[in-house]
Amino acid sequence: MSNPNLDSMENYTWRNTNVAKEIHGVRTAANVGGFFTPLLRPGMRLLDCGCGPGSITVGLAALVAPGEVIGIDANADLIATAQNAAQEAGLANASFQTGDVYRLPFDDNSFDVIWVHALLEHLADPPAALTEMYRVLKPGGIIGVRELDLDIRIVGPETPALNQVFDLWIRLTRENGGDTQIGKKLPSLLHAAGFQDIAVAASIEQHGRAMLKPFVPAETSANNMIALLGPFEARGYATPAEIAEMRQALSDWGQHPEGIGIFARCEAIARKDRA
Ligand SMILES: C[S@@+](CC[C@H](N)C(=O)[O-])C[C@H]1O[C@@H](n2cnc3c(N)ncnc32)[C@H](O)[C@@H]1O
Repeated sequence: MSNPNLDSMENYTWRNTNVAKEIHGVRTAANVGGFFTPLLRPGMRLLDCGCGPGSITVGLAALVAPGEVIGIDANADLIATAQNAAQEAGLANASFQTGDVYRLPFDDNSFDVIWVHALLEHLADPPAALTEMYRVLKPGGIIGVRELDLDIRIVGPETPALNQVFDLWIRLTRENGGDTQIGKKLPSLLHAAGFQDIAVAASIEQHGRAMLKPFVPAETSANNMIALLGPFEARGYATPAEIAEMRQALSDWGQHPEGIGIFARCEAIARKDRA
């Protein structure tokens, strides 16, 4: 990340990997936002917090046009990618800026809608971020949040080495200050930040060769998880022999015609009090 203040505060687990390019960029308003997009109306002013490469933001911008859409992210490189995406889509109502969701550079009560996708799971202080989002949301405004919960995962064919990858992924993210099991906490986090009318749904992300609609090619999913083995080794989570076994297991799973990976994403909608 380019923001030096943020660098000292956060330790993004997938930094120095290709995940932003290969997985986040595949996400769209249509394939991850179905629980939320029916609430959007032309003219709404929308803020996308932690917008990444903007692949979701541009779809949201098309839905609320001519309403203004702003995407904010700590990573200046991703903001540049997002700006290009908006330009290519010919969207005059979308703009992007580098910034910190803990200190949103916007007035109180200034957005109709806030969108948060796969951000809270990486933050050290989700309650502080949600409180800041509540501040900039107009009374009666709505927030949509979609976050991972690795407690619901189905991976096959199952092997001890694959199971170890997921256990260590959870541990690494936690030690980095994040939480890959945050999905189930969304209602209580939103409630604590002051939101009302909280409603929760869930959907799954599909990975692996045997899945009907894999989110990305199975090898890409495998390679992205292989990128976590370096940090596992550096932190001493596993012996070199175990790391080699996990590498082989991931590589085999990526090639396996019966390989499946099913991961839950919890989805929440909530409102700021009209008063
Ligand atoms: C997993 S990515 C999700 C990107 C996008 N929402 C998506 O789903 O494709 C998380 C994003 O949050 C950004 N991020 C992390 N901490 C942040 C903070 N404190 N303020 C703003 N952005 C942050 C990262 O730079 C990264 O782009």
